[in-house]
Amino acid sequence: MSQNENTTTTTDEGGTDPQTDDEKLISTDVTTGEESARAAATSRTMVEARGVDVYYGDLQALDDVSLEIPEGKVTAMIGPSGCGKSTFLRCINRMNDLVDSARVEGDLLLKGKNVYDDDVDPVALRRQVGMVFQEPNPFPKSIYDNVAYGRRIQGLEGDMDEEVEKALRRAALWDEVNDQLDKSGLDLSGGQQQRLCIARAIAVDPEVILMDEPASALDPIATSKIEDLIEELAEDYTVVIVTHNMQQAARISDQTAVFLTGGELVEFDDTQKIFENPEHDRVEDYITGKFG
Ligand SMILES: Nc1ncnc2c1ncn2[C@@H]1O[C@H](COP(=O)(O)OP(=O)(O)OP(=O)(O)O)[C@@H](O)[C@H]1O
Ligand SMILES: [Mg+2]
Repeated sequence: MSQNENTTTTTDEGGTDPQTDDEKLISTDVTTGEESARAAATSRTMVEARGVDVYYGDLQALDDVSLEIPEGKVTAMIGPSGCGKSTFLRCINRMNDLVDSARVEGDLLLKGKNVYDDDVDPVALRRQVGMVFQEPNPFPKSIYDNVAYGRRIQGLEGDMDEEVEKALRRAALWDEVNDQLDKSGLDLSGGQQQRLCIARAIAVDPEVILMDEPASALDPIATSKIEDLIEELAEDYTVVIVTHNMQQAARISDQTAVFLTGGELVEFDDTQKIFENPEHDRVEDYITGKFG
């Protein structure tokens, strides 16, 4: 099944469909034999940043960031506190629009289309690019209504019961909640709440899921469930995850971007390469815990 079949584009510009017009095959930046087998040679770019600067008033939070995030993979963003990881994530679905002082320069492309173009509707964009936050934040509604919410406000077609079940199954929560869908989402455990938020995000058939430290408020067992889930989600979605946990990045991501102080993207490569043999001493120092 292709989720793209159900996904509207961010623009109706000229009736074009970025799905077909902006298809762009790139070689993934993979150097080792084992990794290249896994990466199966080519992958489409889902998100591309070109020379992105972000300012909050006078403070520069991102400095000339360029990278290409491949489709259908898990891309991790790591780096010390304040280096701009969340800021970068929020550029992708224009959450920074909601911050008055924020100013974004450069190009941020989703399947080749600049998300900052005038004809892009940020609400439609956020349907294509869903987000999961550090603290689970279910609505004070039933489990069912949490998952159905996005589809209802977007007026999406389909049997709602089926869609809710599908999203809860994909979020690995169905077996735990299927006999209590009327219960408040707030009455679930923290780990269940986070999986509910993931179900809510995927219920509208996004293409990209942004996760900002999604497991940092959870205990080890709940964390490991979320990690397993993220790996499964990458079969259907492009996942971009911010984490402070190096082992987590190493375990679950295909690519890792290392940001360092000043909002600089210092290195972006295959995760194994970043953790075993980074190009930059500063990255090695960060990864081995010499600073940050
Ligand atoms: N809404 C805001 N208004 C003003 N400055 C902000 C805002 N959000 C972030 N900043 C600043 O931008 C810089 C980057 O912040 P950001 O939250 O992106 O960092 P981060 O890498 O996600 O950090 P952490 O690991 O602590 O979450 C920091 O200096 C921060 O203080
Ligand atoms: Mg952050």
